[in-house]
Amino acid sequence: YSSSVGLEKGFLQCFQKNLGHNTTSGVIFTKSNSFYEPLLESSIRNARFLNSSVPKPNLIVTPHNLFHIQLALLCSRKNSLQIRVRSGGHDYEGLSYVSYVPFLIIDLFNLRSISINMKEETAWVQSGATIGELYYSIANRSKVHGFPAGSCSTMGVGGHFSGGGFGTIFRKYGLASDNVIDAQIIDVNGNILNRTLMGEDLFWAIRGGGGSSFGVITAWKIKLVHVPPIVTIFDVSRTLDQGASNLFDKWQTITPMLPPELFLHTVVGATNSPSHGGKTVVISFTGLYLGTPQKLLPLMQNRFPELGLQQNNLTSMTWIQSVLHFAGYSINQSLEILLKRNQTSTSSKAKSDFVKEPIPLSGLEGLWNMLLSGNSSFFIIMTPYGGKMSEISESETPFPHRKGNLYGIQYSVNLVSNEEAPKHLDWIRRLYAYMAPYVSKGPRKAYLNYRDLDLGVNRGNSSYVEAKSFGLKYFNNNFERLAKVKARVDPGNFFRDEQSIPPF
Ligand code: FDA
Repeated sequence: YSSSVGLEKGFLQCFQKNLGHNTTSGVIFTKSNSFYEPLLESSIRNARFLNSSVPKPNLIVTPHNLFHIQLALLCSRKNSLQIRVRSGGHDYEGLSYVSYVPFLIIDLFNLRSISINMKEETAWVQSGATIGELYYSIANRSKVHGFPAGSCSTMGVGGHFSGGGFGTIFRKYGLASDNVIDAQIIDVNGNILNRTLMGEDLFWAIRGGGGSSFGVITAWKIKLVHVPPIVTIFDVSRTLDQGASNLFDKWQTITPMLPPELFLHTVVGATNSPSHGGKTVVISFTGLYLGTPQKLLPLMQNRFPELGLQQNNLTSMTWIQSVLHFAGYSINQSLEILLKRNQTSTSSKAKSDFVKEPIPLSGLEGLWNMLLSGNSSFFIIMTPYGGKMSEISESETPFPHRKGNLYGIQYSVNLVSNEEAPKHLDWIRRLYAYMAPYVSKGPRKAYLNYRDLDLGVNRGNSSYVEAKSFGLKYFNNNFERLAKVKARVDPGNFFRDEQSIPPF
């Protein structure tokens, strides 16, 4: 304890000395500060990490400018404090705000300006902005521009872009990281670098390789994309009794081949069913089409007549209203709701997979049985690939999951309470084991932004060989190149966490 207090003191002295004055109020928060706890909890998106047994940072730094970040890096290096960089705090394993060694959080929420250049159709977005703030700012300037990123509006741009970032228009335009054209990063020596200065290898690495291994990414320049004035959404749910299994079977073969303007994902859950003595599986087929209902209806009747989509299932709206819808809001709600940064959090555990061959019906039946066993509250989202995602090569960015993937899977279970957590964790791990024969192999792939520490972690002084356990799953053949970039830009492995990339 006393040594950790010494580190804090050393850090503060170093910070104040280099700042040229003693006033760090509003920038540095120690545990004794009354704002420390609300600030720490303000963007903890997984209630699993609110528990009092989870280690807390010695300090929280909320930089108001880049100089504050430079000082935080300098002084944490001098005082052997580890740093964790937090943008939106949505990391599934809490890596942006939990560490088991003395550490501080650099929380970027003050650095969230968004500047849009309509003539160039580009924007500079600071990492502390949420994706909701970005969508809102674009909508304020244009009804026919958007950006291909994820659905949850409170996600931070910092983590989301650096790990990939997909959403309802990614089959048309690729990932958020595919649409980044410049960035600003502060490296381990405190240098502020843009794309030219950081070099193409580092610029490549931060677009899908995760930010936390390479530096503090402070801003991104993105290319806006075109959206039509009218888009169409639909949401049709079927239980097993209503033929959900056969519909899913058809869905998994056709959806990657549908036009890129159509995003049709499935969400699998459980619902009460008196006839089954309790629960049954329900599958929602939810879609967004970049076009009008008049165009979508014949397309669906031709390609997926079994779903029985009717005119009255379709709702037309503006693209930004579809953003509200997929973020879980009413489409008639004021757009200001996208600026909301706080969100109640539940305690959950997630895992991910990629599917390359349709799962046979017998495999699906086993899956439905697994889902109904165990009494866990869960959801599974199956995200269709194809379209633009198949046109981008595996090595274009560190995100390797491109051509040949039919769909991605996210499994998520609610852990309910600390006491119940082991039971539900065990259940999701058994579910994951059950799925092994049906998903990608050699190695089994996973999506970095659905962080899963079960895949492997760095222990002690992390080694490249050890980190292959998770590195190859997230990045496949791009892992070695990421480790070489790491060796160039941070050979001392200052920027590290349980799943950071060690120097090659
Ligand atoms: P957070 O701040 O926790 O950071 C995540 C990681 O990135 C940490 O390792 C952190 O240190 C690092 N990092 C953050 N900012 C950095 C910076 N500026 N410089 C360097 N490193 C930085 N994904 C998706 O693709 N599509 C989706 O629709 C969704 N939906 C979704 C919903 C909900 C409710 C959650 C909780 C998560 C998702 N995700 C998702 C996953 C999401 O993309 C992922 O959790 C992102 O990492 C979140 O970014 P944050 O900045 O919020 O996370």
